[in-house]
Amino acid sequence: MMQIEVISLFPEMFSALTEHGITSRARQRSLYQLTLTNPRQYTQDVHHTVDDRPYGGGPGMVMLAEPLAAAITDAKARLQAKGLVPRVIHLSPRGQALTHAKVMALKECSGLVLLASRYEGVDQRVLDTLVDEELSIGDYVLSGGELPVMVLLDAIIRQLPGALGDADSAQEDSFVNGLLDYPHYTRPEEFAGLKVPEVLLSGHHEKIRQWRLQQSLLLTRAKRPDLLAARPLTKEEARLLGKQE
Ligand code: ADE
Repeated sequence: MMQIEVISLFPEMFSALTEHGITSRARQRSLYQLTLTNPRQYTQDVHHTVDDRPYGGGPGMVMLAEPLAAAITDAKARLQAKGLVPRVIHLSPRGQALTHAKVMALKECSGLVLLASRYEGVDQRVLDTLVDEELSIGDYVLSGGELPVMVLLDAIIRQLPGALGDADSAQEDSFVNGLLDYPHYTRPEEFAGLKVPEVLLSGHHEKIRQWRLQQSLLLTRAKRPDLLAARPLTKEEARLLGKQE
């Protein structure tokens, strides 16, 4: 079972992940174990201070190194005690962009320590001494790392074997084959004057597969040409794209 340690000043936020949907079911099925640690527990002063003003001045507050380092060190030790090699990741707009490939690599890690930071940042010495890697969920700034940690965890957990009801549904998602997902239809056969494409009613599995692949290719070319440029086309894909030109 994947062991996940999260360090956050707002551990209650993680009920969004643990109490709902696929990520909740995966936890009930013991596909992962999540341990939340509040660095405030590691403060020594009466006010339980977790942040302070930046050296050099300027706006905003900086998360203190000591409580964070203590929380991360304990989390790592818990994983090491289970024989795991922990990987410590800080979610930050400075990090490398999260991608499907990265998610697939991380789902193989048996022990993860995820640091969600608040305020203007974290004392650099924590990052220098205890963090293996920084990851960003996109080029915009959120008020804290909790949502980014949950974005990362949701993406990982749904890839764990047994997390999805239909074993194949992660196989067909966007990005899995480097393409966007094809359009989906269910009943009724006509809605708002729009009919379900004929081929999907045909029962002809091979034709349906080809139509879906073609739709994926056309959508990707229209909306995310960068994805198409990043990978070679198979002969079949080139034919399916060519057909439309
Ligand atoms: N923390 C704040 N903004 C973030 C982002 N875009 N990605 C990861 N962590 C963050």
